[in-house]
Amino acid sequence: MKNFIGNCSSVIDCEALIAACELVEGNTILAPLEINKDDVFYKEESKETFDLLETVYKNVTSVKFKHYYPGQHFDQKIVDELGKFCGVEPLGSFVSKVEPGFCVPLHKDIMNNYKDLYLKNKLQRFVIFLSKPSFGAGFILEDEIFYLEEQGNTYKFPDPHSWHAGFNVGTKSKHLITFTGFLP
Ligand SMILES: [Fe+2]
Repeated sequence: MKNFIGNCSSVIDCEALIAACELVEGNTILAPLEINKDDVFYKEESKETFDLLETVYKNVTSVKFKHYYPGQHFDQKIVDELGKFCGVEPLGSFVSKVEPGFCVPLHKDIMNNYKDLYLKNKLQRFVIFLSKPSFGAGFILEDEIFYLEEQGNTYKFPDPHSWHAGFNVGTKSKHLITFTGFLP
């Protein structure tokens, strides 16, 4: 079931945030991702995702997306406002961009820095649809699909470790924010 939090357009300017990201290069991410497999967190929570990327998605050239980070690529204040809006203290967040013809395959986000909060059930993860609705740009969260979502619509993940994916078979770039916070 979708867990709709509200529309955050009242507290952040989605178009201005997209424009800020368009002014900078951001971090391009391609499959296969580079990771230290000796890292304990890889073994604990990322192995399933990376195994998929190295098998099913090996040599798949349509896996490509960009990340933009607060304080580096856009104003940290936006994250602070989102924290108030969602009722959490902000932790990590990023804007992701998927251009037409590309996808972000099935994966779980890496939460390794927040393991204690996760185990205490205090960690929450949200997705915020930044772009205006456009044909072919979608997002899947477990058994729910989000398509033609109103700009600013904000949903909570069923679990911070939920499986999800994004795709863009339309004509315009798709931007969203993945936002993590904790319950004080
Ligand atoms: Fe993700």
